[in-house]
Amino acid sequence: MAVPSKILLTDLAAEIDRVPPNYVRPVSDRPNLQEVVTLADAAIPVIDLQGLHGDNHSQVIQQIGQACEEYGFFQIKNHGVAEELVGRMMGVAREFFKLPEEERLKNYSDDPKRTTRLSTSFNVRTEKVSNWRDFLRLHCHPLEQYLPEEEVAEFCTSVRALVLKLLEGISESLGLERGSIAASLGQHGQHMALNYYPPCPQPELTYGLPGHTDPNLITILLQDEVPGLQVLKDGKWVAVNPIPNTFIVNIGDQMQVISNDKYKSILHRAVVNCEKERISIPTFYCPSPDAVIGPAKELIDDDNPAVYRNFTYQEYYDRFWDRGLAKECCLDLFRT
Ligand code: OGA
Ligand code: NI
Repeated sequence: MAVPSKILLTDLAAEIDRVPPNYVRPVSDRPNLQEVVTLADAAIPVIDLQGLHGDNHSQVIQQIGQACEEYGFFQIKNHGVAEELVGRMMGVAREFFKLPEEERLKNYSDDPKRTTRLSTSFNVRTEKVSNWRDFLRLHCHPLEQYLPEEEVAEFCTSVRALVLKLLEGISESLGLERGSIAASLGQHGQHMALNYYPPCPQPELTYGLPGHTDPNLITILLQDEVPGLQVLKDGKWVAVNPIPNTFIVNIGDQMQVISNDKYKSILHRAVVNCEKERISIPTFYCPSPDAVIGPAKELIDDDNPAVYRNFTYQEYYDRFWDRGLAKECCLDLFRT
């Protein structure tokens, strides 16, 4: 079969009825979709943030701590980001991926260092097998530096307020001062991806994104109503099926370091399906590049020595992109 040459997957997928060879995973590395556990939505804890500033404060903090320790993942409702803002953000993403090919391509770049860019797969410069995904990457903090369009800016600002609230809660759950994690991130950084996973004729052969941990501090994921996200729990892949008006929160590598391994940055992946396109919008909250990251001093003593050395986030991030989505966690390169 001659493979049509297209830069973006979205345009290629529209023309083919089989997965091209460069998207096919080796047999040992396929999604095995029939083995995925589809428990009730409650498989990944759902935390109601309504109580965070009221009578239930200590319960909510305890739930957050337990979820970070046991799952590295949780879902949040009553998160304070207006439904209408979320809807408009989804709309922006949906419209973007419907633009004519030549319009979308104006944003194309395969250079991971570009702050605003459309690309495909994960890192087309280094990877051997491609992923069934196109994505638009946007940086959004400090906002003045990037000036995204209005809807996007409002969404980013509101998600940032949510993250700051979560960082206080997570600090508290670790027994740290409320502001202590936020204070260790330098200027802070925030970027997001608009992920677009087209329908796939042979979803059992490929991934939207293969198993990986997120290199940043914490991720807030908005997903549409199409399932696809799976999380590794006790050696099994668990589907995280969408619940309306919730976000999914996951601990990233930097949080695992700061917590000195108490909280876990967990492997997760996105699978695709033959029928429906899927859109997800993760917000990646990060330290600024020059921030020095290491285990929080308060969590280290003679019985609990630091399990990571200190490093700058820039150093970590460069390593992450160079390695691609390798199974072995990038964190291991920074252990003491
Ligand atoms: C990511 C990610 C999952 C999804 O972009 O890092 O894990 O469901 N996305 O799109
Ligand atoms: Ni991820």
